[in-house]
Amino acid sequence: MKTNAFVEPDDIRTLFSQALSSMYKTEVPQYGALLDLVADINAEVLHENKALAGRLREAGQLGRLDLERHGAIRLGTVDELSVMRRLFSVMGMHAVGYYDLSVAGVPVHATAFRPVADSSLRRNPFRVFTSLLRLDLIDDAVLRERAAKILVGRDIFTSRCIELIACAESDGGLSRQDAQEFVTQALETFRWHEEATVDIETYRQLRALHPLIADVVCFKGPHINHLTPRVLDIDRAQAAMLERGIRAKDAIEGPPKRKCPILLRQTSFLALEEPIRFRGADGADGTHTARFGEIEQRGCALTPKGRGLYDELLSASSKAATGAESKASALAKVFEAFPDDARSLHRERLAYFRYSVDRSRLGHSTAVSANESVDALLDQGLLRAEPLVYEDFLPVSAAGILDRKSVV
Ligand code: NI
Repeated sequence: MKTNAFVEPDDIRTLFSQALSSMYKTEVPQYGALLDLVADINAEVLHENKALAGRLREAGQLGRLDLERHGAIRLGTVDELSVMRRLFSVMGMHAVGYYDLSVAGVPVHATAFRPVADSSLRRNPFRVFTSLLRLDLIDDAVLRERAAKILVGRDIFTSRCIELIACAESDGGLSRQDAQEFVTQALETFRWHEEATVDIETYRQLRALHPLIADVVCFKGPHINHLTPRVLDIDRAQAAMLERGIRAKDAIEGPPKRKCPILLRQTSFLALEEPIRFRGADGADGTHTARFGEIEQRGCALTPKGRGLYDELLSASSKAATGAESKASALAKVFEAFPDDARSLHRERLAYFRYSVDRSRLGHSTAVSANESVDALLDQGLLRAEPLVYEDFLPVSAAGILDRKSVV
């Protein structure tokens, strides 16, 4: 077997994320409008801020910016998750992190599939937040069993998709032709369906338990419910959405605006109400809301100490916001306690950094002792430190993330 005939998993991921983006653009035209808006803002920001453009280029972030998306799906069974894990593995995506949304009253838990290696993240950091329904949290035994029966009876993957996954696993990769076919087949799992697999009464009963339960159980597959591009200035994006008549949410979720962004900030437009045909003698019509648009801005990854401070301030701001102050101003005020420049973040070990040697500063006369601390080398200008981009999702505790019916 000539392994060099295989397509790189990184390339399969890009083929897939681009095919998914094209499909979603056809399904949700507003997503196309959002992509145009993000492209305009990113071009403006890079034009205005040459220093930022230089830093992004040096950190390998510029090439991936236009490709960068995160999506979200919701699965019904452990078996579906097991096959999904294998499907994502074909394109070099692996489960990272655990998010327990039941603490916020949402009957799912989740992980995110994404590339892990630095070189793969540079190529295309496509991520999919993948939730799994927890039927054990449904109290109504009759509905719980009905939902379980419906889910066991469905097959969200095409048989050819399963064959190609098995082929990639046994051979160690996919040929160009198989990779193309794999992408086409895998796409079917993420497609929107206008027909529900249940009658309208079942849908209403499940929806009354929780809208997410109806969304997972009543359809043929786990339609992608949003696909999020990365913007370099989310405050500008938020204003532009409103100017262009896109019904954006009132507030940006996550940490407040900062000079040195941390973690993730995101904003979205409201979920679409879409026509659905239900099963039954008369094929009753109804509607369902699942899909929405979202934009994100990524900041630097925090150490456990930084996350601890973030959580502490977030909880302090939500307590402060119960008074006369608005949520946004309380958040901004409380977060003044979080250092807002790279040197302080480094000195206090709040964020992660990538180091590089400034060779121009290493003259013949410069002797560097092995005992020299990283901080001292940074002070002398011999080392440079660039914050690492946060590659994951907002923690469940993050401000406002569960304000909406939809989940990350
Ligand atoms: Ni999201």
